[in-house]
Amino acid sequence: MTSQTANIRAHAAFLAAAALLSLQACSRPAAATPAETATVPAEYITAASDVEAGRYLVKIGGCNDCHTPGYVEGLAMTGKAMPEADWLMGGDVGFSGPWGVSYPANLRLSVQNMTEEQFLELSRAGRGRPPMPWPSLQAMSDRDLKAIYAYIVSLGPKGHPAPAALSPGVAPDRPHIPFVPQMPTTQVPVKS
Ligand code: HEC
Repeated sequence: MTSQTANIRAHAAFLAAAALLSLQACSRPAAATPAETATVPAEYITAASDVEAGRYLVKIGGCNDCHTPGYVEGLAMTGKAMPEADWLMGGDVGFSGPWGVSYPANLRLSVQNMTEEQFLELSRAGRGRPPMPWPSLQAMSDRDLKAIYAYIVSLGPKGHPAPAALSPGVAPDRPHIPFVPQMPTTQVPVKS
């Protein structure tokens, strides 16, 4: 290969790479401003149906961690998976903190009674108590939220409603998990 041919080849490769880069630049939307990142327009999940996409989002979104009591403990400690028929039924053990006491809602009952539009509004507003990860719902695209809605509705109603939340200062009359930093009760000897 002469040095001239090598030059031509290198030049052609450079042009091809430049063309590809400019193509990518054209097909990509301009960088989002901070205000725009509140809603995510891009779609990344492809699934056979909305219900399938919703099942996947619920699994990776960690929704079962709180809304399905025993789900994490079962998988982590005994390897026993909670049957899907029992998912998202909420629980009677509250989470207490400066917000009072919140209970993981029985989504199988509450979401059934919402229209898709109401579910989207509730998720976007995110005005509920911790430790519900409201920012995670707020960051989802409308399509993701619609898929989660479709999945929860597909599970059908089951169980009983979670107890009503308590305001700060009201003593809970049932078990609750305190979300308040605790001081260690035993002194760890300091090594000299
Ligand atoms: C760390 C625990 C936790 C996780 C994880 C969690 N939630 Fe929640 N969720 C709660 C609690 C507690 C409430 C009740 C909040 C309140 O009292 O305002 C709640 C409330 C809700 C509500 C409102 C229901 C109603 O009846 O008003 C929806 C909808 C919801 N969660 C959906 C989800 C979805 C979808 C996921 C997964 C992406 C999820 N949650 C993950 C704890 C959690």
